[in-house]
Amino acid sequence: MPSERPTARLGVNIDHVATLRNARGGSFPDPLEAARIALDAGADGITLHLREDRRHIHDHDLSRMRAALTAPINLEMAATDEMVQIALRTRPHACCIVPEHRREVTTEGGLDAAGQMAVLRPIVAALSAGGIRVSLFIDPDPAQLRAAASLQAPVVELHTGAYALDRPGELQRLGEAAALASALGLECHAGHGLTYDNVAPVAALPDVAELNIGHYLIGAAIVHGLAGSVRQMRALIRAAREG
Ligand code: PXP
Repeated sequence: MPSERPTARLGVNIDHVATLRNARGGSFPDPLEAARIALDAGADGITLHLREDRRHIHDHDLSRMRAALTAPINLEMAATDEMVQIALRTRPHACCIVPEHRREVTTEGGLDAAGQMAVLRPIVAALSAGGIRVSLFIDPDPAQLRAAASLQAPVVELHTGAYALDRPGELQRLGEAAALASALGLECHAGHGLTYDNVAPVAALPDVAELNIGHYLIGAAIVHGLAGSVRQMRALIRAAREG
């Protein structure tokens, strides 16, 4: 019998398509084309992180995405004035506030919502007043969840990085945090480091409404798609001297 419970939505993070494009400085591979493929394949939305250093997604990626797609766009951003202005200009469906440090490889750990209430309060208010759904990327920690509720952010995204590293007790921590989020009236999302091997237990948590997944999906696309692209190039090279 099929389950009656709705499945968690999937937001596909296309940052690393841009990482690959930027390695050559041209326009291929195109994050917008990747977003369209992801949506055609069943993604419910597209997530992208405009970092202060623009190391992957660039401003024009966000504006092209916003102009071309009708699916929800979730903009991950640091809690800065610059990012708030960009968000209010482009009006994505949602903004996920993440901590950002220049030298980190990726988003390491959740936002300290409890310790940064004064900074976050006007940002959550300004984005919400602009009609943008605000989410806070936090560790599965009750104090952070309570801070998110007090900031009136409608959504939290639980950082699954520690779970992805197989730390003992993390799945239980995520489940308890997701249940607390629901009890506090917050919609609960989750993401970071999720793969084919570790996604199922998180996707099964009844309080998790959305998963945001990037690095592994783009890596899997390269690994699993490479055979087809080599075959096509092989055929083109062969055909070049046949005609
Ligand atoms: N959610 C948030 C808030 C993130 O910052 C990231 C990483 O950009 C992800 C989800 C996706 O993580 P991963 O690329 O490891 O799947």
